Amino acid sequence: MKKIIIAIDGLSSTGKSTLAKQIAKQLNYIYVDSGAMYRAVALYALQKKLIIGEEFNKLKMIEALPSVKVSFVYNKKLNISDVYLNDLKVNKAIRSMEVSNVVSVVAAIPQVRQQLVKLQQQMGIQKGVVMDGRDIGSVVFPNADLKLYMTANAGTRAKRRYDELLTSNSNLSLQEVLDNINLRDHLDSTRKDSPLLKSNDAIEFDNSQLSKEQQLEQIMELVNSCLDS
Ligand code: DC
Repeated sequence: MKKIIIAIDGLSSTGKSTLAKQIAKQLNYIYVDSGAMYRAVALYALQKKLIIGEEFNKLKMIEALPSVKVSFVYNKKLNISDVYLNDLKVNKAIRSMEVSNVVSVVAAIPQVRQQLVKLQQQMGIQKGVVMDGRDIGSVVFPNADLKLYMTANAGTRAKRRYDELLTSNSNLSLQEVLDNINLRDHLDSTRKDSPLLKSNDAIEFDNSQLSKEQQLEQIMELVNSCLDS
């Protein structure tokens, strides 16, 4: 059967990664969480104190980029891809609110994007990839076989992310999560380099009212018709 590239873009916390993982599992494809890569670079910036409060030393960030290695290593036991920043596994650390609060400014740096986009494109060379992010259909794989653009109302998105984060951080408030989501959406959509946008050939999908199962069923119809064409 032919192999395709599926690009999933959209606002923060629209369930892109859950959907992408489900599709990848059904098709036995590779799943790539491109947001995790930006998060890993943001974690590096925090660890190296390139960001302190409102101050971000972008020049130092750019200089440090050759020594920032982000990679995925397949974890057979858990059937997931572990995210590595240099030699350290950072799956958990990249999901913290500290990282969420700074990742959009790190992701707005063109040199950071160039480095990560190059890696992402290499991962798609053999096709058979489902990748989610903000610029996958527009910049990383403009020729992707299927492009999805996910949306959901802000309240639903905040609640989903809040429930997800509660397991590791019980001090969070829903308002804090909502504010972070709104701010990131604003920064991600208005940055100069590769802003979040819906490509003309992307299919928009609002999942506010859908369960994960309903969503998957509807999307798999699109995927299958793409595979059959
Ligand atoms: O998907 P996520 O929320 O984990 O992504 C974290 C941040 O990374 C998001 O606020 C914007 C940025 N990002 C990006 O600029 N381009 C991508 N392809 C993926 C994520």
